[in-house]
Amino acid sequence: MKFLRLLLLFVFVQVSAQQGGMWIPSMLKGMNENEMKTLGMKITAEQIYSINKSNLKDAVPQFDGGCTAEVISDKGLILTNHHCGFDAIQNHSSVDHDYLTNGFWAYKMEDELPNKGMVVTFIIRIEDVTPKVLEGVSALPNEADKQKKIQENISTLNKTLPKEAWQENSIRTFYDGNQYILFVTETYKDIRLVGAPPSSIGKFGSDTDNWVWPRHTGDFSMFRIYADKNNRPAEYSTENVPYKPKYSLPISIKGVKENDFTMVMGYPGRTQEYLPSAAVDQIVNTLNPAKIAIRDAALKVQDGFMRKDNAIKIQYASKYAGVANYWKKWMGETKGLKKSNAVAMKQKFEKNFQEKVIKAGKQAEYGNLLADFDKNYTNIKDYALARDIFTEIALRNTEILTLGYKLYQLEQLYNNKGEQAFNDRRNNLINGLGDFYKDFNPNVDQKVFEQLMAFYSSNYPKQFLPAAYENLNAVSLANTVFTQSQLVSYDKIKVLLSGDSKTVLENINKDKGFEVIKTMADNYLKNVAPKYDEINLKNIATQRTYMKAILELSPKSARIFPDANSTLRVTYGKVKGYKPNDGVTYEPFTYLDGVIEKYVPGDYEFDVPKKLIDLYNAKDYGRYGASNGKMPLAFIATNHTTGGNSGSPAMDANGNLIGLNFDRVWEGTMSDIYYSPDICRNIMVDIRYVLFIVDKYAGAENLIKEMKIISPKMKK
Ligand code: ARG
Ligand code: GLU
Repeated sequence: MKFLRLLLLFVFVQVSAQQGGMWIPSMLKGMNENEMKTLGMKITAEQIYSINKSNLKDAVPQFDGGCTAEVISDKGLILTNHHCGFDAIQNHSSVDHDYLTNGFWAYKMEDELPNKGMVVTFIIRIEDVTPKVLEGVSALPNEADKQKKIQENISTLNKTLPKEAWQENSIRTFYDGNQYILFVTETYKDIRLVGAPPSSIGKFGSDTDNWVWPRHTGDFSMFRIYADKNNRPAEYSTENVPYKPKYSLPISIKGVKENDFTMVMGYPGRTQEYLPSAAVDQIVNTLNPAKIAIRDAALKVQDGFMRKDNAIKIQYASKYAGVANYWKKWMGETKGLKKSNAVAMKQKFEKNFQEKVIKAGKQAEYGNLLADFDKNYTNIKDYALARDIFTEIALRNTEILTLGYKLYQLEQLYNNKGEQAFNDRRNNLINGLGDFYKDFNPNVDQKVFEQLMAFYSSNYPKQFLPAAYENLNAVSLANTVFTQSQLVSYDKIKVLLSGDSKTVLENINKDKGFEVIKTMADNYLKNVAPKYDEINLKNIATQRTYMKAILELSPKSARIFPDANSTLRVTYGKVKGYKPNDGVTYEPFTYLDGVIEKYVPGDYEFDVPKKLIDLYNAKDYGRYGASNGKMPLAFIATNHTTGGNSGSPAMDANGNLIGLNFDRVWEGTMSDIYYSPDICRNIMVDIRYVLFIVDKYAGAENLIKEMKIISPKMKK
């Protein structure tokens, strides 16, 4: 008995020490299923993924390319994050109907709002097709030919592998090119907005609280999928009907406790868990610091204007949030990688790897991988830095340069493809630019330009820096550009782009703004990109062999998951607090009380709607309040998530919906590169808070009635 208990304890310690990983749902049987059961899961791998019966994966589509959603009613109602629906909510908003500020609720299906271009994609089937993709590849002499053959095979297979007419085939690579998996999918195209809380709930805490625990954001919005009368995907039509899902998630409002099992399903975008120490070192000490400094400068300028001028605040809110999100993430990541000694840990792993290679007698095949990495990462360093600086300054954060780059591409297009292609692109450009100028303020951008060009001049690697920008007076250049360039307004650029190709190209080449981007882009494309691509290809090939070796030389039971690649994954763990720093412990739960504590009347990040305060004061939580009398708001767990997992369902041991994933904790944002079970946590909004807002705050009982809600058993 005692022995058994010890054994169980041992198993438990092993499992809890080893969490992390994002797993392929069709391959959970064996190690993962056992581990999940040890952690408390009550359902089977078959109930998560199978091709015969309906299962959890049928309720978890990808939302509009970049996020995740879950089906929560048999009428195609889906739930995702507020920040995933943000653009749609903004698009439907005007001064008269400001849904961003006030929220939006459809109390009848007729009121639901269509969203042009929005899609939701379900997975029908997952199948390993590695042998088919690699057919005829190994016989080829060199890397470039191999890659070409693989791409050809993939595109043929995507066309020829069996699927229904309304489905898509999509083959994706796993383990850096060591495995290929087919996803058969169905993409629904008529997606309508059903509900969104005001931003003061859905985006509460905004950028100050972003990536931070403890958190109090009601980050959710609701949409509905519409289908044709055969329940198949169709373009928007008034004839369409609510989609009948194969499965919809039951919702549990029983509540969660610390150490309860949880799992998250969704579409994590990108991780790099198997990078060598040389690459991590470069991210920590060279690339992240440069990217952070650039965004830091741009954001400071924008924030200054936004705080003084409400019109600018509206123009820049969405752009600012997008730039700030990764700016902040990189800071947390850099800090976390340093604090956890990720580089040293990787080096230790590599030493061990090298020993295994020798033991296995595989020196010829794998003995040089690490030396190759060292050499190539050293060689690529300045090119990689130049690439990041160019991208961040010219293609992302200085609007006039980003716009100018479109004209630069127009010129290239003319040179390569001629008049017709030029005309088509020019017309598209002019049509599309209205949206750009609606949210463009030249005064803001001039100051950003000034800051970032100064950064460019002093930080772009000297050996590449264009002579014109050595010892640059950025203030005077900014002044020239913003007083003389035609790129600063819609009216002016329309004139600049009119006439035949010869006239247009002559005129843009006289433009002061265009001159800047052309100098930078020519420099980058001639002096940096070719060499960067050349070394990068070597790193990609080395990484593939390194991954192959890791898989081959590790014991069968090792937990080696494929890096995220925007395909459906399952991650699991436990509800758990953490210790961010010496002497500090974070609890895993937050409550509505915290919203009231953070409340700053009128503040753009921490204002609270009056009705929510009233509900709080009356403790009017309906059936959604916790047994301690409080209104639960968010919780954290050890699930291994990343960008793309936004909106992912968090489920309990029975596969019932208990929350909605929306972020990670500050100290754990490094988990894309180095996951540590001690401090990496994902943040979820408690489903009880979501339902409380829908029911008590918005009074949208019509939506509550559609859901299958599991309540705690009433004890007498
Ligand atoms: N950090 C979360 C994610 O990566 C939330 C982002 C929402 N945007 C923001 N700037 N607050 O998507
Ligand atoms: N907010 C992120 C997203 O949009 C998820 C958070 C994360 O990166 O972990 O997907």
